Amino acid sequence: MSAQLIDGNALSQQLRRDVAARAQALKARGITPGLAVVLVGDNPASQVYVRNKVKACEDAGLHSVLEKYDASLSEVDLLTRVESLNQDPSIHGILVQLPLPAHIDSQKIIEAISPGKDVDGFHVASAGALMTGMPGFWPCTPYGCMKMLESIDYNLRGKHAVVIGRSNIVGKPMALMLLQQNATVTICHSATPNLKTMTLQADVIVAAVGKRNVLTADMVKPGAVVLDVGMNRNDEGKLCGDVDFEGVKQVASFITPVPGGVGPMTITMLLVNTLAAAETIAHGSPV
Ligand code: GUN
Repeated sequence: MSAQLIDGNALSQQLRRDVAARAQALKARGITPGLAVVLVGDNPASQVYVRNKVKACEDAGLHSVLEKYDASLSEVDLLTRVESLNQDPSIHGILVQLPLPAHIDSQKIIEAISPGKDVDGFHVASAGALMTGMPGFWPCTPYGCMKMLESIDYNLRGKHAVVIGRSNIVGKPMALMLLQQNATVTICHSATPNLKTMTLQADVIVAAVGKRNVLTADMVKPGAVVLDVGMNRNDEGKLCGDVDFEGVKQVASFITPVPGGVGPMTITMLLVNTLAAAETIAHGSPV
């Protein structure tokens, strides 16, 4: 058996078309959804990410501004910039690219972003809203994973989902989203003694560790759905995920590839969140 691919590029295209149409409708009412992307320093990976985010906004007809600052920017000056973006009516979403230089307290910067513009979903208010089932922005990567499950009509009720990784950006919010859909959720991490025992019980596995081959075929129950959030390089320098794709695809029913899986969905959900932020201003709630 070979698993069916969940194509993140195709699903993204579909969702981005919907974002573009809704953005057009807002524009007709005089509101252009706007995203501000703030980059501090010259981390090469971050430079690529922010360029892709700005390009995706342009392609979907969203307004975007990219603010680039030298790595020596002080924390106070960054806080001042964030506050000015909070007050800017042309900006509906603010994204401060992480990691920030070591002299800046990232959490302090995130907490300075107005929760109504926190399209990354990293603010404690957003995390609390997700935890309690209140309206708020969901972090883009796990939100994208949920959309991928939705795209295959996967009903999580009563299923066992195993999340490998416990970051604030992916693992923890992922677990809460799966729980909200009535899955039984296990979070595994570096101190989990026997990962394979856990993953073999899973109907859905989300690998979000940032390490190659965290999940191999012998760790997967036949027919399980496998979502790969990892973004690593193999020995030949080629992009690969956390999952041994060639092996696991022989066992799983559905699997996301890397590249072309969860990656494009992260940016897509950023557009969705930015649009929702603008719609909330326009209508009082997202349409
Ligand atoms: N760095 C890596 N991924 C992300 C992300 O999704 N948002 C932000 N702000 N920084 C990141």
